[in-house]
Amino acid sequence: MLCMMKPWVVVCLCACLVCARAELRSPVVLAKNTTSQVVLVTGATGRTGSLLYNALKAQGVDVRGLVRNATKARERLRCNKCDPSEGIFVGDITQPADLTAPMVGVDKLVILTSSYPLQYPNGTWYYAPGGSPKEVDFEGQNNQVIAALKAGAKQALLVSSMGTTEPDSYLDLLGNGHVSFYKLNAEASLMGSGMPFTIIKPSGLVDDSGNQRRLLVGHNDDLVPSQMMTVPRADVARTLLHAVTLEEEHSAGLRFDLSSDPAGPATEDFAALFKEARSWGGQTRPSGRGKHSGARCISFHIASHAFVPWCARCNTEGVYHDATACPLADEECTAKRVERAREADELAGEFHALYDGEDDQRFAR
Ligand SMILES: NC(=O)c1ccc[n+]([C@@H]2O[C@H](COP(=O)([O-])OP(=O)(O)OC[C@H]3O[C@@H](n4cnc5c(N)ncnc54)[C@H](OP(=O)(O)O)[C@@H]3O)[C@@H](O)[C@H]2O)c1
Ligand SMILES: *[C@@H]1O[C@H](CO)[C@@H](O)[C@H](O)[C@H]1NC(C)=O
Ligand SMILES: *[C@@H]1O[C@H](CO)[C@@H](O)[C@H](O)[C@H]1NC(C)=O
Ligand SMILES: *[C@@H]1O[C@H](CO)[C@@H](O)[C@H](O)[C@H]1NC(C)=O
Repeated sequence: MLCMMKPWVVVCLCACLVCARAELRSPVVLAKNTTSQVVLVTGATGRTGSLLYNALKAQGVDVRGLVRNATKARERLRCNKCDPSEGIFVGDITQPADLTAPMVGVDKLVILTSSYPLQYPNGTWYYAPGGSPKEVDFEGQNNQVIAALKAGAKQALLVSSMGTTEPDSYLDLLGNGHVSFYKLNAEASLMGSGMPFTIIKPSGLVDDSGNQRRLLVGHNDDLVPSQMMTVPRADVARTLLHAVTLEEEHSAGLRFDLSSDPAGPATEDFAALFKEARSWGGQTRPSGRGKHSGARCISFHIASHAFVPWCARCNTEGVYHDATACPLADEECTAKRVERAREADELAGEFHALYDGEDDQRFAR
């Protein structure tokens, strides 16, 4: 496991400041009228976010970007005024009020915001104040999903991360942020929201050019280590581009790992890739459509079991700063959290199994 994590850790920690300029080469065959939909990309000035934003724009999709810094947006998103008149909204996802205006009329939300660890000169990792995984990946993401639900959006697509079956991994423990734990909880809350979702969990992100590699899908970190090392941000953006522009039944209701084989050949047929992601353990899940793709019943379990706020708080802070809220000894608290994280991943598997051969209606509440 450690060996498996190593390349990602290297990739995740590499201070890659240069935005990948790789072209998203193959033209997308647009599903009918997808150009009339409104797509909001959050984290649009990010490395994957800017690739996706620019690709959607090039396809003629009515795309908006939520950014924190209009100057950075001008550099990366080729906007001039970089204001709402050009579909660029400045806001912070930890501030719910900032999300109202950008969500008005949005059909699909693509969540590409993320926390990131910083390093002191002595090598110690930390997160900036207000920038912890709990605040950004969990609370900030929940704010986005809630705002999207209120605005009547039809689908939320999320880039999370592989490795959530390994509690307390090196990455998870960086800066005491528990990033994997919070990303997993954020997945669970999206799945439990009732909003049709697409959750992509990439392996280590790299800035190599896209459209060269064969893309590989898996579930619960089951790709063999030689296949699960890296995937270019440009290919994650291409996958999202197709998920957004194909009819939503291709990608809705899916949660899968995404990695790549550098030997190729380049993946061209994304409908087939999504179909493959839907087929798991020898069985195929029907396409997720409409509100039922959230499969509320099972997601409710994931959500209720995965959220252990008191326990998470213990571990996030490393100390009990609220003895009444956190009555367990540290080991118990950690054990509990580990158990919940595993449970959430197992339940996500069961959720898929429940769909087998069943009518969506059966799980509608
Ligand atoms: N690195 C890896 O190897 C790896 C592996 C698996 C999964 N992932 C995940 O893949 C996703 C994409 O990664 P990436 O490297 O493309 O991301 P990235 O470049 O780090 O972009 C993150 C974006 O989030 C924005 N953001 C952060 N906090 C925000 C806040 N409070 N309000 C609004 N925006 C905020 C940032 O804004 P600014 O542009 O203003 O900074 C940035 O645009 C992330 O979720 C990442 O965790 C990464
Ligand atoms: C797209 O929508 C318009 C109406 O908004 C309709 O006239 C047109 O036929 C649609 N195109 C396709 C390919 O369905
Ligand atoms: C905004 O982005 C510009 C260009 O990338 C950068 O120089 C500036 O420091 C950023 N401002 C803040 C407040 O981060
Ligand atoms: C590293 O530096 C930070 C910030 O100055 C400090 O808080 C921390 O205690 C240091 N860690 C070690 C191991 O020296």
